[in-house]
Amino acid sequence: MRFKNEDIDKVIGQLDIVEVVGEVVELKKTGMNYKGLCPFHKDTNPSFMVSSSKNIYKCFVCGAGGNAIKFYMDYNKLTYGESIYELGKKYNLNIAPVKSGQSQTINKKYYKILEEALLFFSENIFTNSGREALEYLNKRGMKPDFIRENKLGYAPNSWNSLYDYLIKKGYEPEVLSLLGLIKKSEKGYYDTFRDRIIFPIYSPNGDVIAFGGRTMSDRKDIAKYLNSPETPVFHKGRNLYGIKNRGSNVRRKNYALLMEGYMDVLAAHSYGFDVALAPLGTAFSTDQAELLKRYTSNVIIAFDMDNAGRVASEKAALVLKKYGFNIRVLELKNAKDPDEFLKKYGKSEFLKSVKNSKEIFDFFYEYYVKEYDLSNPMAKQNFIIRFKEFFMSVETELEKSLYLDKLSVSLDVGKELLKDILISKNKVIEYTKMEVKPPSTNQIKINELELETLKLSLKKRKYYKSFKNKTILSKLVLDIFRVIEENENKNYIRELLQGKYFKLEDDEEEILLNISTELSSKSQEEVENNYIEVYKRWFNKEIEEKMMYYKDEKKIFLYLECKKIYEIINNDRKKEELEESYEKFMSMKV
Ligand code: GTP
Ligand code: MN
Repeated sequence: MRFKNEDIDKVIGQLDIVEVVGEVVELKKTGMNYKGLCPFHKDTNPSFMVSSSKNIYKCFVCGAGGNAIKFYMDYNKLTYGESIYELGKKYNLNIAPVKSGQSQTINKKYYKILEEALLFFSENIFTNSGREALEYLNKRGMKPDFIRENKLGYAPNSWNSLYDYLIKKGYEPEVLSLLGLIKKSEKGYYDTFRDRIIFPIYSPNGDVIAFGGRTMSDRKDIAKYLNSPETPVFHKGRNLYGIKNRGSNVRRKNYALLMEGYMDVLAAHSYGFDVALAPLGTAFSTDQAELLKRYTSNVIIAFDMDNAGRVASEKAALVLKKYGFNIRVLELKNAKDPDEFLKKYGKSEFLKSVKNSKEIFDFFYEYYVKEYDLSNPMAKQNFIIRFKEFFMSVETELEKSLYLDKLSVSLDVGKELLKDILISKNKVIEYTKMEVKPPSTNQIKINELELETLKLSLKKRKYYKSFKNKTILSKLVLDIFRVIEENENKNYIRELLQGKYFKLEDDEEEILLNISTELSSKSQEEVENNYIEVYKRWFNKEIEEKMMYYKDEKKIFLYLECKKIYEIINNDRKKEELEESYEKFMSMKV
């Protein structure tokens, strides 16, 4: 939302800052000014000053300050435009946002059509054709009133009922197709959503912008959910399911529950947890973090309790941490997701889980610690490095320091050393000149050695076993290693591509597709040779790191010992000899 400069001046000029602030902060007159407790930090002594003559406020402790718009914006966590709009309404100032010309008008037309489609779906569920859908939702605990309130609907089991309905209203098929409501085949247009329960998806401003559709069938060959494609008004990575109806609750209660699915959000809502939102079946994105930040800085992640959910929680937490959120992670015992948990154990048990939710650092600690044997020094080092991404996401120095304290106590490792490894430039990485660039997003990209390692690990479990304790840095390989660790399986690649364990990013999918083609074209012997090669490269890398370390520490004897091994392994040895030297290397005192 944008406003004319004159309108902004009008808001600033006509508003009485004492009145705007006074609504939420108790102010006392002292001389020319007013004083009160600052709402932007934990204030015990009134350090917050409002000047009616200058029309500004200022806190002498935390530094917050500005005019009435700024106050309203920060206090209510709104954008500048939203604040002006709300203030204008509240104080009856005659202002209106600038219409951004054509696109606004076109979007209005789109919203109108989508609204019509929603009307069609939501009426349909209460007709004869929607009976099965209504019964299905009933079985899942959603009563007609709830269905009506949340505008759930049903797309009939027909190829063209929505199409006919909207064409009769005079809309052109091209527009309906652009909005993802219908699709085109050689035989003509057909409805996108057929025989599915419909969940309307709203923009934060309250317009219907897309739909999600759930099948009622258990058939494995039918996608459980179908969502509107990306359209001019719908970008799924920029939206959160539930934000329209629950946004104001999130703001008021100052926290959000982040869940995976439509059903979880709705179930939570029906049990009174009216701050639940979901990222619409995508990996939680930075845009979504930005959107959420306008409502609150406190998030409780309540994703599914399977491996995919855990990986998704980790990813979402790293994104959220970058945006300075306080994050907790909910654990739901004996249930696969919040929906099931609520049905099985009810509201008060859920509330208990909320209260017992883990602060994000503790979640990471408990999650990572299961993967490493901390009595093994190498594994312990890898365990520490596993936190690197987390520390990169932590925004403030203070928070970093507090987390380092915690890690230092838990591991009985000096804080300075941990800081060196996790926050100052990672020495290990510097020494070996690994192709790791500081990641631009929060993902560490796969490097060539890790890629080769991944290929082999996917090929044979025994290869995986030999590589599993290496210092892997890329997310993808770490995620897949966890899958291999936890599941005995013949064809990981296929199941990973099907998204069975976690949702793949586009580039990850491409990597796996390439691996799959490459592996199928290789003979056993070639693969085994690759293995020896990769084994040797890891060995080299590790021993080089150690040599650098010993050299630095002036541990000459150990340095020479390493050097001997180093020469052996680089003299074209057989696999057995390599393995033998490796054991020797590993048994050296650190
Ligand atoms: P129920 O199985 O009905 O309880 O659904 P749910 O809301 O618990 O969903 P689930 O945990 O299975 O999946 C989480 C979210 O991922 C869903 O709400 C969808 O947004 C999305 N999703 C799940 N399955 C599919 C699918 O087959 N295709 C697409 N595009 N998205 C899906
Ligand atoms: Mn579910």
